Amino acid sequence: MSQAMPSPGQNGPVVMLHDVRLTYGSHVVLDEIGFSVRRGETMCVLGGSGVGKSTILKLILHLEEPDSGHVEVLGHDIETAGRAEIFEARQRMGMVFQGSALFDSLSIFDNVGFPLFEHTELSLEEISGRVREALSFVDLDYRRVESLLPSELSGGMKKRVAIARAIVHRPEILLFDEPTSGLDPITTRTIDNLIVKLRRELHVSSIVVTHDTRSACRIANRIALLQSGRIIFIGTPAEMLASDDEYVREYLE
Ligand SMILES: Nc1ncnc2c1ncn2[C@@H]1O[C@H](COP(=O)(O)OP(=O)(O)OP(=O)(O)O)[C@@H](O)[C@H]1O
Ligand SMILES: [Mg+2]
Repeated sequence: MSQAMPSPGQNGPVVMLHDVRLTYGSHVVLDEIGFSVRRGETMCVLGGSGVGKSTILKLILHLEEPDSGHVEVLGHDIETAGRAEIFEARQRMGMVFQGSALFDSLSIFDNVGFPLFEHTELSLEEISGRVREALSFVDLDYRRVESLLPSELSGGMKKRVAIARAIVHRPEILLFDEPTSGLDPITTRTIDNLIVKLRRELHVSSIVVTHDTRSACRIANRIALLQSGRIIFIGTPAEMLASDDEYVREYLE
């Protein structure tokens, strides 16, 4: 008997960038960028300040368009996709912004519930259940935090709330922009652990932009190292640490 074929897209990459070039005026921000992220994989994009890391996330969210090349998300070519397809692809992604980007005047409950209030028809009771589930997943006691304002939380707790907001609509892909910048080493480790837990327990695919090599090695299945808008290395953390490529060594040192 022939084996069942996997349905299309099931094992394919969830995000694929092919030969992407992006410029602002005469400034080439990204060039010859190509990589793919497999379902259930955590890919870290590592590199110094201004090398184009956040721009890669903007391309995936379709907040920027490439000058040339292709960006494919969940099987849709972002360039040829219509508005409805882009909206659908975005609904299947969650984003954790640099600096958390919580709404200062909204309670933690309303911050986390925001994507559901905005984009779904769920009842308040259903939203409440989802918000509490998301807060519990990031190890926050909803009874204690849900009526507080962001200003009443520590930096690490704000980051957890930002992650809860990003997962509340149960996305397949999570994008993180510098999730641990500005956090102390112990809090950094708890956020790293959460990113690993998201992969293990919810099987999400993640793209994590960071300049923290240690964090990247702890959480990534693969790392893409960016320098001056180009990928100079892509491989597992062990392969990166063992690389004798002079640019990789220079970055690590
Ligand atoms: N809208 C824009 N217009 C012009 N230049 C831009 C724009 N957005 C980004 N840039 C430039 O593109 C380059 C890459 O920016 P990007 O934000 O992707 O870098 P990054 O790697 O995320 O840096 P950081 O680590 O500081 O966050 C930078 O030189 C930046 O100045
Ligand atoms: Mg950035």
